[in-house]
Amino acid sequence: MHELVLKSCKTFYRGKLTSFDIGVDSGKIVALGKGLEGEQKIDCSHKLVFPGLIDVHVHFRTPGAEYKEDWVHASRAALHGGITTVLDMPNNTPAICSEKTLGMKEEIVSKNASVDYGFYLGASTDSIELDEKITPNFAAFKLYMASTTGDMVLDSPNLMFKVFRKAARLGKVIAVHAEDESIIKKNISLAKQRNKYSLCYHHEIRSANAEAVAIERVLKFAEQTNAFLHICHISSAAGLKVLKDAKLKRLRFSCGVTPHHLFLTNKDVEKLGNIAKVNPSIKTSADRKALWQALNSGMIDVIETDHAPHAIKEKQRAYEEAPSGIPGIETMLPLLLDAHNRKLLSLETIFNCCCKNPARIFGLKTKGKIDIGCDADFCIVDLKREQRIGARDLHTKCGFSPFENRRVKGVVEKTIVRGTLCFDSGEFVEAVKGRNLFGVFCSK
Ligand code: NCD
Ligand code: ZN
Ligand code: ZN
Repeated sequence: MHELVLKSCKTFYRGKLTSFDIGVDSGKIVALGKGLEGEQKIDCSHKLVFPGLIDVHVHFRTPGAEYKEDWVHASRAALHGGITTVLDMPNNTPAICSEKTLGMKEEIVSKNASVDYGFYLGASTDSIELDEKITPNFAAFKLYMASTTGDMVLDSPNLMFKVFRKAARLGKVIAVHAEDESIIKKNISLAKQRNKYSLCYHHEIRSANAEAVAIERVLKFAEQTNAFLHICHISSAAGLKVLKDAKLKRLRFSCGVTPHHLFLTNKDVEKLGNIAKVNPSIKTSADRKALWQALNSGMIDVIETDHAPHAIKEKQRAYEEAPSGIPGIETMLPLLLDAHNRKLLSLETIFNCCCKNPARIFGLKTKGKIDIGCDADFCIVDLKREQRIGARDLHTKCGFSPFENRRVKGVVEKTIVRGTLCFDSGEFVEAVKGRNLFGVFCSK
């Protein structure tokens, strides 16, 4: 008799869609098979079960900008989206670039998280100095090559090389926001001269070329240092072309795409206004087509939300003053399931890019798959049920979504974290205490 049994689960097991019961004790998967008995039973027949999704790119805004988002709201938003593990970015106030600021962040987040998590450490002169003998209590490095929310640009080739070398020595992934700052600056001044400094030109200001050039630059650092590079939120055909060439050269890297780059184009941005202002910019339909092709060919490893909420008041400012960033953590999976129903992508790609690959790339050994010994994190979805995405049903503190009013076929029904049913049919039934999955914090 197990504490919890998920009955008749259709799920991915060792790469194949299979059906069995899952037995859970003490938050771990302990049995797979038929006819398992449990004190608590959840009938999963006619449903699809994913391992809890892993979102490797979120901005939950603690410390310093809790008026935009906080971990209580964002954890709920994650659970609503079937996501049970998140990796949170360092562009906070203060920026998270040292052991000290990591500790400060942990103090607050550990009290409020109800999903498991890890933190990025920002690339800076501080993190270059990091003592290599201390257990590194962070998930990965994050390098901002261009200005975006948080002012953490590190553009000097010498410093960039040093951060890559540090990442290689510590065996940490280095995730990069790859846009070239000098090209963007040039484009801004050109746009101003031509009276084209406005939202409908955002995709030409933060251009495809700015992305492609930046990717080329960091690939060189990765090659020189042997660090493992993750290119965040790829947005253009030109950027993909650089990556394709790098694949042929057998360079070591991975790359992620966001739902907003997959499901929106610059034409949507014109209609939506600043709520769809984001970096890298949302580009043309030709770029979007290239992203879908790359996703379906296995060229893209990860789907990451880049959940980056801002207050609606800030988004209502003029183009040049409105901050960039789009919330996405609770709409990603429904959008992907809908895309599957429209025959745009396979369930296997969803599983690979939202569970298996994120766990592999970021070294989350007990996450992202359903197997004996893994954490009992699950997301149970109904592929056939339809819903309309509505701001009222969202839990993110910012309260808006560029996908509002979309009808999608595919609903997250239940989310389970380490054996506890947390989210069920629109309700939060129980909360677990989220754990930091990296380093010394775990033992606290
Ligand atoms: C992000 C934010 O607001 O933190 N904004 C964005 O446009 N994506 C930062 C980032 O990922 O660039
Ligand atoms: Zn970014
Ligand atoms: Zn981001």
